[in-house]
Amino acid sequence: MRLAEYKRAIEQSNIVSKTDLDGVITFVNDEFCKISGYSKDELIGKNHNIIRHPDVPQEVFKKLWDTIKSKKTYISTVKNLAKDGTTFYVNTTVIPILDEDDNIDEFIAIRYDITRNVFLTKSLQQKEEELENLNSTLEDRVVQQTKELRELNATLEKRVQEEVEKNRDKDRVLFQQARLASMGEMIGNIAHQWRQPLSELGIILYKMKKIYKKHVTKSEIDFYESYDGAKKVIKKMSETIEDFRNFFNPHRPSEAFSIKSSLDDAMLVVQSTLQRHEIELKVKIQDNICIKGYMSEFSQVLINMINNSKDAFIQQKTDNRVINLEIRKFDDNYAIISFRDNAGGIDKDIIDKIFEPYFTTKHASIGTGLGLYMSRMIIQNSMHGTITVENVDSGVCFLIKVLVCKEKERCDG
Ligand SMILES: Nc1ncnc2c1ncn2[C@@H]1O[C@H](COP(=O)(O)OP(=O)(O)OP(=O)(O)O)[C@@H](O)[C@H]1O
Ligand SMILES: [Mg+2]
Repeated sequence: MRLAEYKRAIEQSNIVSKTDLDGVITFVNDEFCKISGYSKDELIGKNHNIIRHPDVPQEVFKKLWDTIKSKKTYISTVKNLAKDGTTFYVNTTVIPILDEDDNIDEFIAIRYDITRNVFLTKSLQQKEEELENLNSTLEDRVVQQTKELRELNATLEKRVQEEVEKNRDKDRVLFQQARLASMGEMIGNIAHQWRQPLSELGIILYKMKKIYKKHVTKSEIDFYESYDGAKKVIKKMSETIEDFRNFFNPHRPSEAFSIKSSLDDAMLVVQSTLQRHEIELKVKIQDNICIKGYMSEFSQVLINMINNSKDAFIQQKTDNRVINLEIRKFDDNYAIISFRDNAGGIDKDIIDKIFEPYFTTKHASIGTGLGLYMSRMIIQNSMHGTITVENVDSGVCFLIKVLVCKEKERCDG
């Protein structure tokens, strides 16, 4: 009874098989079937080598047979092949069972599954090998990387220098571009300011030709007057260039000057034009007001406004052409210059745009759209004043407001 229980206990916890003396299977338990994948029917009567793995060398089996045939117990770990081609490992104990005459009756093999252990050990071994490999190459790699780093360091300085050089080039190009742009603007402004004196010169020369043609004695005086006039205009033009050379210099010193003298300067450049187009300029000056800024630029503002009125008079074919220029003090602190014409005014759709650069309603041969833009730059930026526009009665009115100069500086007017 006890024996049967032992047998059951062993069979339930182990993989058990029995073979005859030739290795033919005579018994397998359920565990054997489970691990090998074969059914009992497929196994019984077959040689035990049905689960032999091709990897296992012949000598191993020889040793097994030698051992068990000499009636000794064979203990070993065996690699086997299941029906589905997978490998399994078992710790095997093969015991020869002897009969009463001490002859081998059969062999009984008791095994337990160690596949998982073997695989774990294998992967552990593999990891160990990898680690070993890693360790052995580590030094090499450190040496290699140190070398690379050293090379990188050596070229770093050079590359930084190259980049700095590139940036410097870029800066230079940008600087050049900015310079060209402001030079372009300056040339545009000079061209704008020269247009009026040039036409003035044209008129003077035309007059001189007429005087010369008449050949009357009185003409000599007129001739010299015209000659002087032309010289003054030329002087004005070269001054314009000087002014613009300074135009972009934020540190140029400002001067105190009388509005009256600035107006006189402007008159030099526009009087022929006014006469020619039969424009009456009515000037009302309260007293000799002194302001601080740049006199020639201020007269350019006046010239620009007069020219704009002239163009408008021509365009509107105005009959009775009048410009009212009123210069007075306001609040004791400000000078107000009110410039009014009767040339029809400015369309309300565009009145907000007239101070924008290059805004013009005129043909390209007449206007560039820079006049009022420059005027506003001069009044706002250079003289910290304001210039505004509105339509009044039959024309426009420009209002300029600048601070009066109260210092005891000499005003040359
Ligand atoms: N007194 C005015 N009467 C009517 N329209 C004017 C008057 N002044 C200026 N404008 C309008 O404002 C626009 C801009 O004037 P601005 O002086 O800036 O340029 P422009 O006279 O057209 O050209 P530029 O002065 O450069 O030769 C003019 O084209 C015109 O339409
Ligand atoms: Mg203009």
